Amino acid sequence: MRVSAGAAAIALVSGLAVPAQLDEIPVAARSAGTFTIDRIDRYAYSEPAPVLDYRQREKFLRGRHHFNQKWVVFPSLGGDWGLGPTFITDRCSGCHVGGGRGDTPKSADQQLLSVLVRISIPGEDEHGAPKPHPNYGDQIQNQGLMGQDKDATYLGERVPQEAYLYIDWQETPTTFADGEKVMLRKPRLRVEKLKFGPLGPEVMYSLRIAVPTFGLGLLEAVSEADILAIAERQKAQGVKGRPNYVWDAIGKHVALGRFGWKSNQPSIRQQIAAAFHADVRQGKLPTGPGRLRVSAAWQPARTR
Ligand code: HEC
Repeated sequence: MRVSAGAAAIALVSGLAVPAQLDEIPVAARSAGTFTIDRIDRYAYSEPAPVLDYRQREKFLRGRHHFNQKWVVFPSLGGDWGLGPTFITDRCSGCHVGGGRGDTPKSADQQLLSVLVRISIPGEDEHGAPKPHPNYGDQIQNQGLMGQDKDATYLGERVPQEAYLYIDWQETPTTFADGEKVMLRKPRLRVEKLKFGPLGPEVMYSLRIAVPTFGLGLLEAVSEADILAIAERQKAQGVKGRPNYVWDAIGKHVALGRFGWKSNQPSIRQQIAAAFHADVRQGKLPTGPGRLRVSAAWQPARTR
């Protein structure tokens, strides 16, 4: 934060501590060393690290533009084309708010917006990952374009959302050791108005809130050997987590999973492709009797 000389004088007179300017603080004492930025508002985590060179910074700014950019339906203006026909949110930053974490609905009748619902059925896909549902794929898209897209139809009708998704909280009173009483709450998913047939009794759900996205390039730079060594050390400490091996669809080989709640994506690139594919665009085309018809331009490649 920048402090003007006037403000500093007032703060001194009133005895308040004056935050120092960033360049007055030695690098070693800054909260993130050379990565510390001079900003403390809600956009602080959407800023590029100051150590980036010109090309890296340009790349970051292009990425940030797409992250905040709204997706729209052809030929609408004011966004990138390709939204839907079913989707969850029309932009990355709708879930990763300010590059940070998502939010849960404020009430029981508000739909999920930045929390998504993964689904699978018993068994494995061809690469050993959870088996997607034959009609709904691996994620439920709770928004549909409902006819704004002229090319996409389902049974000759406008394409609706796959289902409505809500959270009901189950509260349990708990007492801490010091006697303080608190209410712990657990989310319970409520799925309503399934539009593409039943999910069936075997379906398994995983509710996942959007995670922060800053600093991931640094995590991607950690070598596989280092991660495996940390996992070994943790095993000795009784930690039960283990490295997850997943399919790298870009390199076409098995790779260490690094991103997502369960480390099911091997690279930021693949994680982002999957997000474009399943969060802002149709993930899995429903199959079966009235299968969804989408023009060739919309046809997504399966990435997971
Ligand atoms: C509907 C909400 C939603 C939207 C929209 C969304 N994400 Fe995500 N994102 C999530 C959730 C939830 C996770 C955790 C996924 C998991 O574990 O399965 C995640 C994970 C990630 C991760 C991995 C973070 C980590 O620490 O492992 C990255 C990177 C990411 N998203 C980038 C993007 C980008 C880029 C876009 C836009 C193309 C996007 N997301 C759109 C909800 C969303």
